[in-house]
Amino acid sequence: MQLSNFPVTLVEHSRLSQVNFDELSFGGVFSDHMFSMVYEEGAWKNPKIHPYQALALEPGVAMLHYGQTVFDGFKAFRGLDGEVRIFRPDMNARRLHDSCQRLCIPIMTLDELSEIMIHATQQLIKLDHGWMPSQWGHSLYVRPLVIGTEATLEVRAANSYRFMIMTAPVGSYFTNLQKGVSLRVEDRFTRAASIGGLGAAKTAANYAASLLPGSESQQQGFDQVLWLDGNEHRYVEEVGAMNIFFKIGDTVVTPPLGGSILPGVVRDSALTLLADWGIVVEERRISIDEVLAAFRSGTLVEVFGAGTAAVICPVASIGFKGEVFQVATAPPGELTLRLYDELTGIQYGKLEDRHGWNVHVEIPG
Ligand SMILES: Cc1ncc(COP(=O)(O)O)c(C=O)c1O
Repeated sequence: MQLSNFPVTLVEHSRLSQVNFDELSFGGVFSDHMFSMVYEEGAWKNPKIHPYQALALEPGVAMLHYGQTVFDGFKAFRGLDGEVRIFRPDMNARRLHDSCQRLCIPIMTLDELSEIMIHATQQLIKLDHGWMPSQWGHSLYVRPLVIGTEATLEVRAANSYRFMIMTAPVGSYFTNLQKGVSLRVEDRFTRAASIGGLGAAKTAANYAASLLPGSESQQQGFDQVLWLDGNEHRYVEEVGAMNIFFKIGDTVVTPPLGGSILPGVVRDSALTLLADWGIVVEERRISIDEVLAAFRSGTLVEVFGAGTAAVICPVASIGFKGEVFQVATAPPGELTLRLYDELTGIQYGKLEDRHGWNVHVEIPG
């Protein structure tokens, strides 16, 4: 694959002047340009950058019926020093590669995918650098997407695909670190099967499964769903679109990756920082009964979610079977805030990037 700049078709009229950067929602507006390439006759080809535009797809495209689609999500940040940094895109390439394999999408090698994804993202950001927010907490969200494009109603893997990358300026997902979020434990519906399902893949079906419980949680006054395992509805899995951490006494506990949980990039980053700081972490199954017992004994000092959208998000309370439990420490807890500050400090170039997580983008002067 030739990795010099991809061919570019520029927009005739930029939409940038219509964007209100003070009122950004999450993915409500997309930047002027996008990247795409196709898979046809057994090969990935025709990589290019062109205006963000509607897709022409037949209604009989199997992906629309059977869900053979995967995506990922990561962010680029404009630092206080004016530099633009992309946070750990190699991890997202790896996850997208794994997601493709699980959904039977004939993806290129991991090295090729990683190179193309990072290179295309850098080229898109250079081209659309005016879309890159500069306010603290704001960022440019990058959304790669792979869809099957073959029109057939046969239930099988498609023989043609489109790989796209779009970008969107976004505000901070949860603005109130002091308030934290409230969770409702979901003990009826399941996000993903415990064994052998799609939980570790970033694919549409998992998000479709989350919509009804998410809407029920909001109707009952909670912000997000706390998912339990799909087998016994007993062990905590993850929360909304984040991985979950509990600080019980001096130990941090987070559920292990076992195929049903999305392997979060921020989860991995948090685990690395916690290890750096010498904090005891247990990656192990934790039952909702154990969480409630820790609430009752006052040893559950902090709960937080970790994910690209919110980075680190304090949890204030958890509702289960009609009872609401308040976390002992008012948000944000000390460790929650330390992780939030360290991660955002690295992302915005305020703190040293000791692990080499950031990928720089040279913005034309
Ligand atoms: C279901 C789910 N779990 C966890 C995460 C956190 O993953 P990451 O840290 O890579 O954003 C996300 C967000 O992508 C998610 O959608």
